[in-house]
Amino acid sequence: MSEARNYFRDVETLDNGNVEAAYARWAPIYDLTFDVLLKPGRRAAAAAASGARGPILDVGVGTGLELPLFSRHTQVVGVDLSEPMLRRAAQRVRRERLDQVAGLVKMDATRMAFPDATFACVVAPYMLTVVPEPQAVLDELARVLRPGGEIVLVNHVSGKDDAVALFEAWLDRHMAPKLGWRPQFPWSIIGDWIDRNPQMKLVERRPLAPFGLFTLTRIERVSAERNECAKSAPLELALA
Ligand SMILES: C[S@@+](CC[C@H](N)C(=O)[O-])C[C@H]1O[C@@H](n2cnc3c(N)ncnc32)[C@H](O)[C@@H]1O
Repeated sequence: MSEARNYFRDVETLDNGNVEAAYARWAPIYDLTFDVLLKPGRRAAAAAASGARGPILDVGVGTGLELPLFSRHTQVVGVDLSEPMLRRAAQRVRRERLDQVAGLVKMDATRMAFPDATFACVVAPYMLTVVPEPQAVLDELARVLRPGGEIVLVNHVSGKDDAVALFEAWLDRHMAPKLGWRPQFPWSIIGDWIDRNPQMKLVERRPLAPFGLFTLTRIERVSAERNECAKSAPLELALA
C-alpha cells in the first residue's frame, strides 16, 4: 500500500471536532510552546509571500504569530477553524497595530467562502498536518488562488522507514486526536496531489530549521499568461 493510502486509511484518527477541541486546549499556551520553535518556518513563509502582487490568504492562522512577519505593504486575510486561536490573533492585531491584516475569519479550510481566484498567494504555515483531509485543503487553496500565484506550505514531512518514522507512526496511531495534529506526514500527500493537478507546479522544496524538521514547499498555479497576478485587482471582500 502506498504511503499516501496508508495515511488516509488512518484518517479517522483526526476530525474537525477533535481538532477544534485540541486547539481550544492549546490556545492559552500555544505562543509559549511554539513561538520560538516554529519561527524559522513562519519567517520563510512570510518571505516567500512578500513578492505577491495582491492579497495574501493565511490559512490556519492560529494565534497570528506569523502576522507581524508580513510586510506592512501587503494585505493579509487570516482564517482558522478555532475561535479561541482566532481571538488571540485578533488581540495581537490590535496590540501590535498590524495594518496589513485586512480580516480574520472563522472558516474551514476545506470549504472557504471566498470566490475562485481571489488571492495572489496562499500560505499555510504548520497547518497541513493538522487536518484530516490535506488533499481536500490543497484543492481549496488552489481554487482561491489566482493564476500565476503561489501556495506556500510549511510543515513536517516524514522520513522513510527509520526509527523516527516508526516512532511517528506510533504517535500517529495513539496520540493524533489529543495532539490535534498528525506526527506522520509522507511527502506523497503533496507530491501525488501536484502530479494529479497539471496546472500546479512545484517551485521549491527546502528543509528548514530546526534540524530540517520542517519543509518549505512552494507550488505555483501556472498561468496561461505569465505574471497574470501582477495585473490582478485588489481585494474587495466584506470581512468581519
Ligand atoms: C499548528 S497551528 C498553526 C498556527 C499558525 N499558522 C502558526 O504558525 O503558529 C494549526 C492551526 O490550523 C487550524 N486548523 C486546523 N484545521 C483547520 C481547518 N480545517 N480549517 C482552518 N483552520 C484549521 C487550527 O485551529 C490551528 O490554529
